[in-house]
Formats: sequence, C-alpha cells, structure tokens
Amino acid sequence: MFTTKWLKLFGVFSILALVLAACGGAPATTQPTAAPAQPTTAPAPTGGGKLEIFSWWTNGGEADGLNAMFDIYKQQNPGIEIVNATVAGGAGTNAKTVLKTRLQGGQPPDSWQVHAGKELTAYVDAGQMEPLTQFFKEQGFDKVMPPKLLEQITYNGEIWSVPVNIHRSNVLWYNIKIFQENGLTPPKTIDDFFTVAEALQAKGIIPLAVGGKDKFETPHLFESVLLAVFGPDDYAKLFQPGADWSDPRVRQAAEIAKRMLEYSNSDRSSLGWADAAQLVLDGKAAMTIMGDWAHGYFISKGAKVGADYGYAAAPGNDGVFMWLSDSFGLAKGAPNPEQAKAWLALCGSREGQDAFNPKKGSIPARTDANVSLYDEYLQYSIKAFGSEKLAPSVVHGAAAPEAYMTEYGNALNVFASDLDVDAVVEALQDAAKDLK
Ligand code: GAL
Repeated sequence: MFTTKWLKLFGVFSILALVLAACGGAPATTQPTAAPAQPTTAPAPTGGGKLEIFSWWTNGGEADGLNAMFDIYKQQNPGIEIVNATVAGGAGTNAKTVLKTRLQGGQPPDSWQVHAGKELTAYVDAGQMEPLTQFFKEQGFDKVMPPKLLEQITYNGEIWSVPVNIHRSNVLWYNIKIFQENGLTPPKTIDDFFTVAEALQAKGIIPLAVGGKDKFETPHLFESVLLAVFGPDDYAKLFQPGADWSDPRVRQAAEIAKRMLEYSNSDRSSLGWADAAQLVLDGKAAMTIMGDWAHGYFISKGAKVGADYGYAAAPGNDGVFMWLSDSFGLAKGAPNPEQAKAWLALCGSREGQDAFNPKKGSIPARTDANVSLYDEYLQYSIKAFGSEKLAPSVVHGAAAPEAYMTEYGNALNVFASDLDVDAVVEALQDAAKDLK
C-alpha cells in the first residue's frame, strides 16, 4: 500500500531533517480553557489579564491542537485567562462573517486565525492589523520558515502574521477495508476515480463522501479538479488578474466535478466536512477529498492511519502539493497587545508548533521541528512539501483575495445543488473579473 511503501523507501528521520533544512450561520462559542506545559522565549506579560483568540477550530483534531497550545500558554503566562472565541464552520465561512462585524464595530479579538497569502491582504488594506516585521525578526522566525511561506505573509513591505503550520488541501482519504474487500486500489487519475467509483456504486457503497453545510466543501473539491485538469502552472494562472476563464478546460473541470458529485452522498448540504470524513471512517462511504485537517479529525477519533484509513493525492494531483498555511495576526487596537504578542511568540515557536501540529494534522511552518513527534502521514507530508511541486489553495486563502474567494465559493455552492455546468462556468467567468 502507498503508505507502507513510503516508510520503506525512506529512512524517514534523517531524510526528513534534510528536506526540512532545504526548504471557518453556526453558533459562536466562548469557552475558556485550562492546563500546563513548558518554557519558551515568549515575552511573558505580567499582572494577569485576558487573551482572546478567535478561530473556527471546533472539530476533533483542530480543537485539540489549539488546546495543546493554550496549555503551554497557560503554563508560560500564569494568571492570564484565555478566551477561546470560536465560530464553528469549516474553512471559516461563518467565522469570517462574525469577525468582519466585530472588526467593523471596533471590537477586535486580540488575535485571529487568518490564512497566509492573499486572504490577509483585505484586513491589512482595511487597517485592521498591526505589522509584525520587527517582532518576527526579534523572534528569529524569519530564519526558520521557508522563503515561500515568508512571501505569503509579506504585503506592502511588512510581515503581518505568524504561521503556525502548513496544510495540504488535495488529499484523498479512503477506507482501507472497503478497498481491500473489493479488490480496489485508490485512484490515481480522474479516469481511475470513475472506474473505482462505478465499482463501488455497483456494490451499494457511496463512493465519495462530500459535505456542504460549511459552504466550502464543493469549492474545495473543485480546486483539486482544476489542478488535475490544468496542471500546476496553468492552475496558478487561473487566480492572477486577467486570468482567462473562457478556457475550455474550465468546462471540462465542471463536467468532471458534476460526475464526481453524482457519485457522492445526496445529503451533502446537511453534512459538514467532518461528517463526511466520519462516513469514511464508519465504512459508509469509501473516499473523501479533504485537507489534512481530516487526518487530525481521524486521529481524534482514535483511528489509525495505514490500518483504518489511507491517503493518496487527490485524483490527477499526484506530485503536486496544494498548500495553505494557518497563521495568527495582531489586531490593531487589540485589547491585550502584550498577551497577544506572547501568543504569537508561542505560535511561531518550535515548542508551540510541535505541540499543535501533530494533533492538527498539519506540518510545522518551521524547518527545525522535531520530526520524531510527527506520525507516518505527517512525515510523508513534510517530505512531500519539500520535494513536490507546490500549488496555492484558493479556498483556503493562499491564491486569491477574500472578495474573489467569496464569489468563487458562491458559484460552486450553487453548483453543488443544481449541478448546472453552463451556469457554473458563467459564474466563474464573472467572478474572475474581480481577481486583483
Ligand atoms: C481551513 C483551515 C484549517 C481547517 C479547515 C477546516 O481553512 O486552514 O486549519 O480548520 O479549514 O475548518
């Protein structure tokens, strides 16, 4: 199987070390957390107080990772109450709406989750974030993060956020038992996908689990189909100003996505991404295409990679790592700036990242992580990030500004229910006029 092959091929730790060297309408919850851990170089604020951290990490895996960092923060900064302001909903679709209202109303949280890349430019343009260039250098983060990532957090000559991880969006997760029992191998190409899907459907198994409740799942599926059809170079051009969405390959991608959705569960619109992942875990569906936060989710459910579930590149995405990075910024007018800086110092630290990422299902943003703390999948992913071609995720903020992402997302969410190829092609062409 794919996973075992990787482990055999590489004397994992040493090679990984080399590679590393080279290179969001759901309810808002506010729940303070508790617990202890170790020292770092974080500037410890004194005199008690609060720290409000805003994110959309509420599911298994992502919430565990966040809590692991809160534990360390509490140890380092005794007496400070952490206000864990989360708004449920994958990819932050709901959270970003709530955040916008708070920012416009002059009530920022101290620090919020923002994707590195074009997504953060809107907050900067609106004057809602503090530059972090000097802080970044004082902490030495510029020396330990890949240049490609530094580029993504630099805008108008300043650094604006502290990356805590790198995620891969284009992963096919599958139920190993279903594949074994049916004599199938995970599909590498789009054609393979349809062959496998047909065989599974004939056995009464849902081939592909897809969510829709969080309003990012079909847009997410579609970015991997675009990548498969266009290849990494032309895919990246699709999100540049002036991109040509009248290219016939856009229609081809929409037709493929339509066929894929026809092989998926019909209750898409009522399931979140984690519910879709759970269908795979429960053996009710064979595959799901989701970012590797699904790995964090599976881990949180006690499932074992290589035994209960396997992974491969999304169909037609072999050799290309579609990437994104979660980061945290400092609010202009943050109520607790010193506490927030201590949080940011933790987010960028090795200790923080090594506590967060193994639970989150992501790889560290730092190149000096303790790789032995990462499991088989994450070690594979660390290596892949260093050796595969990279493509920026559009749904998760790396490739295009928020205004465009919203239009792209709207077009694909309508498509998720009507499967109207003509309409989605037209909507995507319209959206492209707003690429900046
Ligand atoms: C992404 C985010 C991930 C994960 C996922 C599901 O946008 O980068 O960290 O939270 O949404 O909510």
